[in-house]
Amino acid sequence: MPEGSEPDVRTGKGILRVLTCGSVDDGKSTLIGRLLLETGQVFRDQLEQAADESRRRGGRDADVDLALLLDGLQAEREQGITVDVAYRRFATGRRSFILADAPGHEQFTRNMATGASTADLAVVLVDARKGVVTQTRRHCNILSLVGVPRLLLAVNKMDLVGWSEAIHQAIADDFRAYADRFGFEGVVCIPLSACIGDNVALPSSSMPWYRGPTVLEALEAEPGRTESEAVAFRMPVQRVCRPNSGFRGLAGTVAAGRVRPGDKVRVFPADEVATVARIVTFDGDLEEAKRGDATTLVLAEDVDASRGDLIADHASPPQESDQFACRLIWLDRAALVPERQYLMRIGTGTAIAQVTKLKHRINVDSLEHVSASMLGLNEIGSCNIMLDRRVAFDPYREVRETGGFILIDRYTLATVGAGMIDFSLWRASNLTRHTLAVDKRTRAVQKNQTACVLWFTGLSGAGKSTMANAVERQLFADGRHSYVLDGDNVRFGLNRDLGFTEADRAENIRRFAEVAKLFVDAGLIVLVSAISPFRAERRMAREMMEPGEFIEVFVDAPIEVCEARDMKGLYRKARRGEIKNFTGIDSPYEIPEHAEITLKTAESDPDTLASRIIEYLRSRESTAPET
Ligand code: ADX
Repeated sequence: MPEGSEPDVRTGKGILRVLTCGSVDDGKSTLIGRLLLETGQVFRDQLEQAADESRRRGGRDADVDLALLLDGLQAEREQGITVDVAYRRFATGRRSFILADAPGHEQFTRNMATGASTADLAVVLVDARKGVVTQTRRHCNILSLVGVPRLLLAVNKMDLVGWSEAIHQAIADDFRAYADRFGFEGVVCIPLSACIGDNVALPSSSMPWYRGPTVLEALEAEPGRTESEAVAFRMPVQRVCRPNSGFRGLAGTVAAGRVRPGDKVRVFPADEVATVARIVTFDGDLEEAKRGDATTLVLAEDVDASRGDLIADHASPPQESDQFACRLIWLDRAALVPERQYLMRIGTGTAIAQVTKLKHRINVDSLEHVSASMLGLNEIGSCNIMLDRRVAFDPYREVRETGGFILIDRYTLATVGAGMIDFSLWRASNLTRHTLAVDKRTRAVQKNQTACVLWFTGLSGAGKSTMANAVERQLFADGRHSYVLDGDNVRFGLNRDLGFTEADRAENIRRFAEVAKLFVDAGLIVLVSAISPFRAERRMAREMMEPGEFIEVFVDAPIEVCEARDMKGLYRKARRGEIKNFTGIDSPYEIPEHAEITLKTAESDPDTLASRIIEYLRSRESTAPET
């Protein structure tokens, strides 16, 4: 974060980080516009521009649409975890504020989840005509999940309900009853009209019954997050600076705690101990850096560090693990598929992540735990996650900055989830891989072959099993050692608990890939024949093998041909709606983009095509490096 937690000189209190939650319809932009206007942050020309614009759009002359003011203000956007959140700074004579605002009304949850991790207080807006709605409850839930300690309920549009005390009271009671279940440190409810200006910066004369603070007074009085001396130092390494051979610094932003020259630190994942020699900034060396400060640390020892590493207090180090229990907020239209691979960004580091178990989904209205196999847009779940490597972290409730993460789609690189680590699961991380005297290569050499996987993918009826059979027959005749893992057959045993939802298919392919990997390790030529309709899982299988071991064979036949063949009568049933999620009918097949071999089974006979594969394997073996 570029914004520090430095005390505001005017008050001695820290700068208050405020997150606004609510939609444009609730009057969020109008409230922000009003705050900026009445605290003198908006200039006369901007105001005039907005007035012109409101008139053009048919508004009343005197009634400037304050929401339009925001369009003219430059929104500052940050990288990474806060990419979707716009920040605005504003100040009164008494205090400075950083306002994190979710610009899109469509994607409010995404913006909230990514902007909330540093907020001290959230302003939750409701429309007095509607009161507390599902979205309000969802906001509460997420705010509690991401650890925002205090709430301000802005009951807006009081002018439209006749400034009614009873209505405000009912909404405030309703809200408190819900919010109380989460144990927030403080909840303030304020009746207001952002459009007219009542109770925003100036008290309302229309609501004499209300004797509490205005929004601005409440914000000015907030205690803010007190940075405890006890919080241990954490700084993710953003980059290694080496402007010349004599200087090597580790640049980043202090995520938690503070650091001084002479402090002993540990650098993860190498877990090397070092001493801070200098804290360098553009304006000279510092005696201390604390949360929010962007700095470059020079260490006395030459430790092995790079981008993504974590520098931490020597005496209270973070934990390290590759498996966690966590809570996850899903932010993408395409549902979370357990076992699918995503990228995890934690601190400045990246790892490949899989949700190994979705334990339950949380119903935001009842807070009940509901069993779920997928997580849809804006849903919140509790799950276990496994990474491809160990990372250093803190439980989220202890340090938000090193316990929070985002999940990223591997293809679109869009942020698809935001998560909070609860605790580490000690599983594979405590096991050691045994090196065996007889290894994959020796086993394969004994069989006079090079182990590999031929991965046949294609529609049902395209001819995958036929091709796998034909190839295996030729391999067998050639004295090769092989094994066919066939979709239908494996579903009778190992995978008999799986159906055809996207999640089940992802798990189906994961198991195929794991078994294929073991068989390759046994030195075999493995033929996998499974629809494997999704690119993500085929890529995962490929990446589990060594380079060159995975040979993707696209068994390509037009769906009309497959349907005409309809060997098992399944297309007919699928067309009649008797089978759901049938590939090519109501479930997609993603065509391979980089298959090593494509077989057009409608154009040639199986033996001719099989010979092409045998030829491919031969040429591959003859060009394989000698070992
Ligand atoms: S995969 O999509 O998970 O790779 P897999 O190859 O294991 O599928 O299994 C596909 C086989 O299951 C098909 O050949 C067909 O016989 C049968 N099947 C039953 N229901 C479906 C369905 N909804 N979609 C596709 N295949 C189905």
